[in-house]
Amino acid sequence: MTIIQTARYDMAPDTIAIVGGVVLTEEGLVRADLVIEHGLITALGTDVVLPEGATVLEAKDCIVGPGFVDLHTHLREPGKEQAETIATGARAAALGGYTAVVAMPNTDPVLDSAFVVRAVLDLGAVSTCEVAVAGAITVGRKGESLAPIAELAKLGVQLFTDDGSGVQHGGVARRALDYCRGLGVTYAEHCEDNAIAAGGVVHEGEWSAKLGLPGQPASAEEAMVARDLLLAGELGARLHLLHLSTSGSVELVRQAKHAGINVTAEAAPHHFTLTDAALESYDAVFKVNPPLRPEHHVQAIIDGFADGTIDAVATDHAPHTPETKDLPFDEAPPGMLGLETAFSLTFERLVLGAKMSIEQLFAVMSMNPARIAGLDAASSRPYGHTPHGKPVAVGNVANLVVIDPEATWTVEGSSLASLAANTPYEGRTMHGAIRHTVLRGEPVVLEGKATR
Ligand code: NCD
Repeated sequence: MTIIQTARYDMAPDTIAIVGGVVLTEEGLVRADLVIEHGLITALGTDVVLPEGATVLEAKDCIVGPGFVDLHTHLREPGKEQAETIATGARAAALGGYTAVVAMPNTDPVLDSAFVVRAVLDLGAVSTCEVAVAGAITVGRKGESLAPIAELAKLGVQLFTDDGSGVQHGGVARRALDYCRGLGVTYAEHCEDNAIAAGGVVHEGEWSAKLGLPGQPASAEEAMVARDLLLAGELGARLHLLHLSTSGSVELVRQAKHAGINVTAEAAPHHFTLTDAALESYDAVFKVNPPLRPEHHVQAIIDGFADGTIDAVATDHAPHTPETKDLPFDEAPPGMLGLETAFSLTFERLVLGAKMSIEQLFAVMSMNPARIAGLDAASSRPYGHTPHGKPVAVGNVANLVVIDPEATWTVEGSSLASLAANTPYEGRTMHGAIRHTVLRGEPVVLEGKATR
């Protein structure tokens, strides 16, 4: 990795205009054009005079809203750059409508030191989407001694997690939650009790039995959700639960929220669009952690979004090279691509499926994740970021997405911008597409194509 100085608005053309669309403003969805000058929204309305020489982005029949924010992206750099780099992952993110992503710490080396975190933030600063970092909660993600959380928090790191594994030791989790509370940062958990999961590579049930693959029960996730909710409630700490996948987890979070516990939760599109019946093919492209589950769990995740128990769609974008994904099922690594398909899947299943409005889609894909990641306000820390997840308004930094609800497209792993191709949606026709993505006033995606 090379260390590069941060660049901010320098890539933006002087003036751009987005015309003909319906815009998500503080007053809701309104027909409006907007003008962006030097990265800032300077005019919004139906009678806007377009400045001469402006780069015009057509948005007829489209919706213009705040760019999406992904709470859960595996960028693989440093360590596995053959699967993804920060640059390729950020390009995939921009094509998926994201203007900010949170990079997970399970890289090699792990993101548990200021040196490595700085290097990732430096590369993120010149890519096509803003890159924030989730720091490891324990040194080397080993679940033993705490990482230098205070030092990383000074760099602006807001989320701490050993994602890829849960913190197994309840005492370590409790100390980490307490430490995070003191620093005003958030403890995020990958909920998986290894002793209960017992090495299971799929959900324990009908399909694990049919395929003869070791299964892990839903309780492997739910036991850690319950433990962490108790600890967070007792300490008054802020807890974020990563990639929830079971009906029991959703119910536990629902009750905890009613009880006033400071918890937020995310779920990934594959957990509300696929069931473990996909494993019939024995194809490791469907191997993911937490595993795909039966239909009643999928329905519970959807219901969790519908009633606000689940706050955010998170991709858990997990690129893997074909060499590793082609290994026998139990040897292949878990994980699937997500950045370029998340919007269409959420739009299809939750909006077209009449579970939420388009405004709520922006809440779960932009506003809520921006707030959870602390990316909703500008940060002037050494590695500052611009605000994300705000309704479109004059004076805001132009971090925007333009979505086309009528467009359809077909997923082709080899054509995705991600370096890897491990999408479980190969050949599937998707409804709803990303037309343009604007980062700090720069059109990084124009008419569905990356500009750099
Ligand atoms: C993640 C990865 O590949 O980094 N894989 C996954 O299936 N979600 C790590 C993990 O959370 O297990």
